[in-house]
Amino acid sequence: MEAYFVDWFSVIVRWLHLITGIAWIGASLHFAWLDNSLEEPDENKKAQGIKGDLWSIHGGGIYNFTKYAMAPPAWPSVLHWSKWEAYTTWITGTLLMVAVYYLQAQSYLVGPGKWIVDPNVGIAASLAFLLSGLVVYEALVRSPLRHQTLLFAGLLTLFIGLQCWLATKLFSDRAAFLHVGALMGTIMAGNVFLGIIPAQKKFVEAVQAGQDPDPMPAAMAKQRSIHNNYFTLPVLFCMISNHYPFLYGHAYNWAVLIAIIAITAYARHFFNLRHRGVVDYSILVKAFVAFLLLSGALGYERYEQKQASGVMDVADGAAFALIDTHCAVCHSQTPTQPGFVAPPAGMLMDDRHVILQSAARMLTAVQTDYMPLGNLTGMTANERAELINWLEKKTNL
Ligand code: HEC
Repeated sequence: MEAYFVDWFSVIVRWLHLITGIAWIGASLHFAWLDNSLEEPDENKKAQGIKGDLWSIHGGGIYNFTKYAMAPPAWPSVLHWSKWEAYTTWITGTLLMVAVYYLQAQSYLVGPGKWIVDPNVGIAASLAFLLSGLVVYEALVRSPLRHQTLLFAGLLTLFIGLQCWLATKLFSDRAAFLHVGALMGTIMAGNVFLGIIPAQKKFVEAVQAGQDPDPMPAAMAKQRSIHNNYFTLPVLFCMISNHYPFLYGHAYNWAVLIAIIAITAYARHFFNLRHRGVVDYSILVKAFVAFLLLSGALGYERYEQKQASGVMDVADGAAFALIDTHCAVCHSQTPTQPGFVAPPAGMLMDDRHVILQSAARMLTAVQTDYMPLGNLTGMTANERAELINWLEKKTNL
């Protein structure tokens, strides 16, 4: 019964997380585009303190956006703030983390061969990982180092890289990728809550009190907003990565993750430049070539592994018996593994015909150590090698 409620809780918060996330990322992409696409206003508008102007058509109406250099001449009666999108995305994300990784820590959070074995220690480590990461970022962004753009970018990249490596040592491979995404998402929500919104409040207070606003907090808020902008694409990648065991299950998964984060953040750079009128397609080409090289390197390695494996062939009967013991306990219409009420991922493995049809997907899941989930069934390395060997034969038929 408990597993049934966890499933419901999980589906509802995942759905809400997606909706709020779309609202947040959508709004930030829109404002980044808006800010970078503003045109020089006419003299009349300039005289009113307007810094940039933009016309657009949407949903059958013409819109005119204007950006003021400082405060508008008359204060608007309603001023819209963008902050709840960020907060609700973070809150639903945290609930989803609880639903998947804390309530089912044994299956999802801890993994074979990692530093942490105990699920409760895993939960504590997860909280510490996210909190300490936020603290380090906040210390960096508030330090004088933030004035040195290149040095700061280097330090931030190094820090995220180290967290990628650390996460893959602490948590199961799937949880590791998700934790890097959750950390970056937490930093982004923190940027809104701890930097951008307070700076905007100060600005509004100063203007309403008839004083000149202090440009310092505004400059710091802008910087945080730029960081958020570069984090967007990598975070979204981390969030969908849990569907791709061939990536997070790789032996050097932390390096794969660093490469993908670097490539996607770099691709974001193209769009940032283009909004400013600098169209440098070579950035996209370089990012694409880097992706090709990465996929080529990963593919070549799989090929090499295949050549090297010298495991004994197992008969069909023995392979089906292995699947029965190590997979069908969960992957059946009525799973016997506690905590499961329906076949996970909709995959059934108690029928030989169906098994043969899904051999390719099973192969990736077993090859990357993703399955059996958390190795709850205690599959030995030899059994794994035999099953891989058999599944490869069935896939190549
Ligand atoms: C302890 C329960 C459990 C066991 C045992 C188990 N699985 Fe799974 N399996 C799951 C869960 C849960 C999911 C869904 C995970 C997700 O959403 O990423 C899943 C998903 C999968 C998927 C889909 C992954 C994808 O997205 O392509 C495959 C393939 C798979 N399992 C194969 C296997 C094979 C093969 C075995 C036996 C060697 C096995 N599983 C044993 C729980 C289990």
